[in-house]
Amino acid sequence: MITDDVVIKTEGLTKTFEKGKKREVIALNRVDLEITRGEVFGLLGTNGAGKTTLIRVLVGLLTPTEGKAYVLGKDVTEDIDYIRQRVGLLPQEAGIYDRLTARENLIYYGGLYGIPEEELNSRADNLLEIVGLKEKEDYQVKGFSGGMKRKVLVARALVIEPEILFLDEPTTAIDTLGARVVRNMLKEISSQQKRTVILTTHDLTEVKELCDRVGILNEGKLVAIGKPSELEEKFRAANLEEVFTGLVTGEGVYGDASL
Ligand SMILES: Nc1ncnc2c1ncn2[C@@H]1O[C@H](COP(=O)(O)OP(=O)(O)O)[C@@H](O)[C@H]1O
Ligand SMILES: [Mg+2]
Repeated sequence: MITDDVVIKTEGLTKTFEKGKKREVIALNRVDLEITRGEVFGLLGTNGAGKTTLIRVLVGLLTPTEGKAYVLGKDVTEDIDYIRQRVGLLPQEAGIYDRLTARENLIYYGGLYGIPEEELNSRADNLLEIVGLKEKEDYQVKGFSGGMKRKVLVARALVIEPEILFLDEPTTAIDTLGARVVRNMLKEISSQQKRTVILTTHDLTEVKELCDRVGILNEGKLVAIGKPSELEEKFRAANLEEVFTGLVTGEGVYGDASL
């Protein structure tokens, strides 16, 4: 049963990729996951753990090999258009239109979703305010720092007023200061708007600052899920770093690693 409050549900979700003859990579290995409306959920895992693959399946960019994935109550293999209209995505390698201004980037993107101009303008006003780019809204993005570009991209993902916002490594590949700025903005967004946010990261500080719950992926398997404090307790670890290191190296975890 899927209740209204469960906005994402996966059951035995598996995704494999062919890697040459006979070899295959199991990017997602029987993942069972439930995410509730309004949560800020962090997906943690080292490179290659399956984080991006999971997001790509949930937004319909990849089809599951086995198992099920439901977003907003709809099966991703059946109702992807319904889902796409209602979720925002900041891809890991997001492109931005450098020659457009910050504001034009939002307006252009929102236009693709058929949002009327007047509505779009008022949303853009509000979002540019929230992300702290109001004064820079009419500057071409090409002169922006990495952190500022990332803010434009987050605002762009939000302009369609998605019920769920997926952010794939929103703070990776920008400098420390830029990452802080983006984190603060995400805090602001998640506190002001009752919106489900799913973000992937390698950064445990980020998780502690932002996330209500966290799921740890390792080699395609969801090896732990819960509130950061619950995981520390469950694995009898002093902090999330210890939980994480224990789970991905197979050392130093005294609790039961199975779900
Ligand atoms: N399009 C693809 N084709 C082949 N292999 C892929 C593809 N996308 C991801 N993979 C593989 O799936 C695994 C998980 O990748 P990914 O989901 O990108 O991990 P993460 O985002 O956690 O770093 C990796 O082994 C990766 O090489
Ligand atoms: Mg990734």
